[in-house]
Amino acid sequence: MTKTGILATFLTGALLLGGSAAAWGQATPITIKFSHVVAADAPKGKAALQFKKLVEERSNGRVKVEVYPNSQLYKDKEELEALQLGAVQMLAPTISKFGPLGVKEFEVLDLPYLFKDMAEAKTITQGPVGRDLLAKLEPKGIVGLAFWDNSFKQMTANTPMRTPGDFKGLKLRIQSSKVLDAQMRQIGALPQVMAFSEVYQALQTGVVDGQENPITNIYTQKFHEVQKHMTLTNHGYHAYVVIVNKKFWGDLPADVQAMLTSAMADSSAYFTDLAAKDDEEALAGIRQSGKTAIHTPTAEELAALRTALLPVHDKMKDRYGDAILTAINRALGR
Ligand code: LMR
Repeated sequence: MTKTGILATFLTGALLLGGSAAAWGQATPITIKFSHVVAADAPKGKAALQFKKLVEERSNGRVKVEVYPNSQLYKDKEELEALQLGAVQMLAPTISKFGPLGVKEFEVLDLPYLFKDMAEAKTITQGPVGRDLLAKLEPKGIVGLAFWDNSFKQMTANTPMRTPGDFKGLKLRIQSSKVLDAQMRQIGALPQVMAFSEVYQALQTGVVDGQENPITNIYTQKFHEVQKHMTLTNHGYHAYVVIVNKKFWGDLPADVQAMLTSAMADSSAYFTDLAAKDDEEALAGIRQSGKTAIHTPTAEELAALRTALLPVHDKMKDRYGDAILTAINRALGR
């Protein structure tokens, strides 16, 4: 959908509402359109529905949340434009999708093997570095409410991936991040940026050979049905940033803002509880399907891949800025 299309939809909606500010005088409920690109039964999909449930319960219907999963309303790039225009009020894109908005610092979180485990990642996203990153969205008309720490990414393709050399020449789909582009080129793969909603078909038709994602996305999008191999590389961090349109948020009555903030905190805790569990269940589901050979790398294979990818940290310093990597290393006591 073009920017004009997004604008047209938004203007029609606003006309119907008769200007949301006035409607908050209480005749009409405050409506939050929450759009996202994953399946309704993926961790983000479930947490968005949990947020809806909590908000509608706690506001006695004064606030309505409409959740649109699976890119029903907008695809990746469009959804950020739609949020800035106010055509939707809430999104939860991944950390890898803010580069096109000009907020390149988030891409530091895309560095391969940046974190050794989820605990390290949460120290950063749930701490001062995470708060600083969220604040960088404000000049773009966006308020960052929370990080949803999801999981680590795995590689899938139709050929085995055991050594760095096995990635050479593979066309691999990536999200719109320059750091991910550099990561794939570092191992000789050919990165292709593509909207999430287009990945299944691109894998099925061979437009791309493979992709990287957490296991829950691979399973709920059925990528395993069109990918013969998956290697459990845990090479990249995957998290969401829950964001709202700044004007919408600022215009909300204080009590509504407070209720939404606490509902978001409870939905984030709910997300954290289910993300790891869902990852395990998805892995069992893929194993059971028998459609994809799952390779757990040896310590030597992991070390070789890590050594091959670490130069990206230095190569991409100018992209995300040295200061933030220094802050991350300091916060992790490195
Ligand atoms: C992607 O690869 O685009 C996904 O990770 C998207 C998402 O929101 O999980």
